[in-house]
Amino acid sequence: MNPSIKNPIKLTIDDQEIVVEKGTLVIEAAKQVGIQIPHFCYHPKLKPDANCRMCLVQIEKMPKLQTSCSTQVAEGMVVKINNPIVKEAQFGVMQFILANHPLDCPICDQGGECHLQDLAHVYSPPMSEFEEVKRIFIKQYFSPVIEKEMNRCIQCMRCVRYCDEVMDVRALGGIGRGDMTEISVFPAKTLDCEFCGGCVQICPVGAFVNRLPLYEFRPWQLHKTDTICNYCGDGCLITLETRDQKVVKVSSKVGVGRNEGDLCTKGFFGYEFVNHPDRLKKPLVKKKGVLTEVIWDEALETVAEELTRIKAEYGPNAIGGLITARCTNEELYLFQKFMRLAIGTNNIDSSVRYGHIHAAQAMKRVLGTNRWTCSYEDIVQADAILLIGADITEANPVVGLKVKEAVRHRGAKLITIEPYQRNVAPISNIVNIATHPLQLAAGTEWWAVTGMIKALIEEHLVDEAVKTGHAAYLSQLTQAAGKISWNQIKDTTGLSADSFKAAAKTLAQATRGIILFGSGVTRGTKGLETVANLLDLAILTGKINREGCGVAPLTEENNEQGAVEMGAVPGWLPGLREATSSEARSQVGAVWREELPQEAGATFLEMIERARRGEIKALYLIGENPIGTLPASMKVREALENLELLICQDLFLTQTGEIASVVLPAASYAEKEGTFTNHEGRVQQVRQAFGPIDGSRPDGEIVTDLARLIGYPLEYDSPKAVFQEIQRLIPGYHVTALTAERRQAVAAALNRYLDQDFSKDLSQRYALTTPAANGNPYTLILGPMLFHSGKLSLKSEGLLKLAQEGRLQINKEDAERLGLKDGDPARIASDQGRAEVKVKINSKLPAGLVFFPEHFNQPSIKDLIPVSVDPENRVPSYRTASVTVERI
Ligand code: SF4
Ligand code: SF4
Ligand code: SF4
Ligand code: FES
Repeated sequence: MNPSIKNPIKLTIDDQEIVVEKGTLVIEAAKQVGIQIPHFCYHPKLKPDANCRMCLVQIEKMPKLQTSCSTQVAEGMVVKINNPIVKEAQFGVMQFILANHPLDCPICDQGGECHLQDLAHVYSPPMSEFEEVKRIFIKQYFSPVIEKEMNRCIQCMRCVRYCDEVMDVRALGGIGRGDMTEISVFPAKTLDCEFCGGCVQICPVGAFVNRLPLYEFRPWQLHKTDTICNYCGDGCLITLETRDQKVVKVSSKVGVGRNEGDLCTKGFFGYEFVNHPDRLKKPLVKKKGVLTEVIWDEALETVAEELTRIKAEYGPNAIGGLITARCTNEELYLFQKFMRLAIGTNNIDSSVRYGHIHAAQAMKRVLGTNRWTCSYEDIVQADAILLIGADITEANPVVGLKVKEAVRHRGAKLITIEPYQRNVAPISNIVNIATHPLQLAAGTEWWAVTGMIKALIEEHLVDEAVKTGHAAYLSQLTQAAGKISWNQIKDTTGLSADSFKAAAKTLAQATRGIILFGSGVTRGTKGLETVANLLDLAILTGKINREGCGVAPLTEENNEQGAVEMGAVPGWLPGLREATSSEARSQVGAVWREELPQEAGATFLEMIERARRGEIKALYLIGENPIGTLPASMKVREALENLELLICQDLFLTQTGEIASVVLPAASYAEKEGTFTNHEGRVQQVRQAFGPIDGSRPDGEIVTDLARLIGYPLEYDSPKAVFQEIQRLIPGYHVTALTAERRQAVAAALNRYLDQDFSKDLSQRYALTTPAANGNPYTLILGPMLFHSGKLSLKSEGLLKLAQEGRLQINKEDAERLGLKDGDPARIASDQGRAEVKVKINSKLPAGLVFFPEHFNQPSIKDLIPVSVDPENRVPSYRTASVTVERI
């Protein structure tokens, strides 16, 4: 017997004896003995609905046939499936369904992978007994990306149930009666939802299909490649379905991958950037001020010659590199090795500098690791979850589903510390399901964390182990929190002492408690301090290193975790070794068989400053577009124009690429092999669906070719060979689970922190600063958006159909007061400038808060926001501004 079965139930299915767990459905037990019971409405992700009757079986001692999808096994049960009575019933159900079905298989995109088509081959009699006139539903426009063909619907309600039970969106419902029941949207006429594609994937027939490749393919023409999504840090397993060198669609497999088959809109509809006609296909070199197409050899030789000249003339530290955390681990590793050895500088940075570095830094200091101390499974099984500055459905939708599952299906308590309010809009808002929705003033997360800590101490909720074992730490923290009054916290956050006390009690009393935080914390002002103080909160509540507990930073880009671990930052070599430590350098040097540069490297903003001062002469950018990303007040363009050499390696020509000396066309993730590490710490395989599109090349290959031309060969046969070297430097890099050994290491680091290291900076971290005055009537907040993630999503037709442009989102009452309706133009102004923009009503926003999605460059709303730069990590923060809004 399977030892994992806790409550065994023995039954017989078609003469085969089987022991399964109590509560198993008969349809699932049958599967375990290799019998597939035909079904339509059953789905392993959904609660039983038993509406289609296709899964009927005979159970001894029961008078009628039973639906196996809703009947649980019982001790001694005898189930008959392969018998004439059952067969007759199944044939009958199938006849009913087919009587109404249009049988337009030749023009249905589902043809070839349709559940009805497959079952009809086995369960239909040669002639139907019915002579019914087919139903005809009036064709309606449904949505820009999902096509609805109700004549094909078999009314299994899987789409409606998925949208409710898994997504918590409830956008769909059945209208009408009997066989004229139609799946439709409430209350709007066209679909307004999260566009996760789940209803398309779960529909067993072609009633819901993806409009983007409509009529373009037959399923058997497509080649399928399992790989990892390259949008956010959730690390979803996706299947790229391709023909020639084109991604035709994306799908996923039920129960597989960290996403268990669920996807978000970017994963499902955001693939078209790979096929975009604007993809760079020829290298460009600036000649007489004009970017001119050249062959690869010329472009690479130009770069190699210039880098060699600049290095010889000004030294290696006159060169810097910046790489996107969307690259694979192997590419990130190669690039930092190229900068450190072929060039000889630690001036190497990556997009983690936009915020995630704070999380990595603080966690390394306190826990000795940048890794999560919990898993997705722990989120689902938690009793209490604290979400702070995460805006999880917009930024990390699939981890958002895990939170929803914990709350809606397992009764977890949810504390949200976000600037959003509850609402009734169809797009789900995680705040709606929170037991403690702490709606704070935008940009005041640091004060809210202090409030939680103060509440814990005052309410005597501090974990016993901390009280008894770390008195000095607790006393200093008590003093620090005591210096900040409840009035100061309330005036800043807008939240009362009572709300903090209630939330703190819920978190402290949970046996399995998880703290999740995102860019609202890491990209906000005082980001480093806020993360470090959140770790104090986790320690005080005993949630840091216990079974089922943990602190988990969420990342916006797919491989930020990998970028840090590969050493694509100036301060750390691979494996988070300090670049300034001679011991660390010799460990890495032993594998590289080279001396590593000793001088501390510059962060990305420091490189820009040095370029402005003429100290840095060359910058090599991979997948980064700082002119488009950073606010105009930082004058990045002027600094980059000062360079003697600017190399932009990218899929598209960006604003930064336009002023580059050389532009190198890179391949997309669909054209590469390698690995990504998601924010949870899982190292996952990236597989090539097809070779690089004409004229482009994988980033790693370009870097190794340049290294050879510079006279410093980085020779590897394949990305696998690079990964083997990574494993030599980071032993066990493939081990993804949270092992006992890792927990021990965390415990040791934590003790060091609690015994002495805390005192190094604790009083500074809790020193009260006054937040910037809000002189204007509105607070503008810049943040993530579900339908976009920047450069790649803005080249994806499907996502552009869902959100074509950035709109200033505003609460309904504020809009009415200003005389604004959806789509009206408005003028927004701060002391940094003004911009004109269309507005969108969003009922999740409270009065006085306006939101703009950070991924849209035009109009330049981010230019209205003042930038503050963190003194330690040099992270630029530009999230909130005080603004006026008026109707034009
Ligand atoms: S695409 Fe929209 S309607 Fe369909 S399941 Fe997802 S959220 Fe629901
Ligand atoms: S649209 Fe598809 S999933 Fe929804 S009820 Fe109809 S057949 Fe079932
Ligand atoms: S964007 Fe994130 S949540 Fe969406 S499919 Fe990709 S990895 Fe998953
Ligand atoms: S699958 Fe059991 S009733 Fe539909």
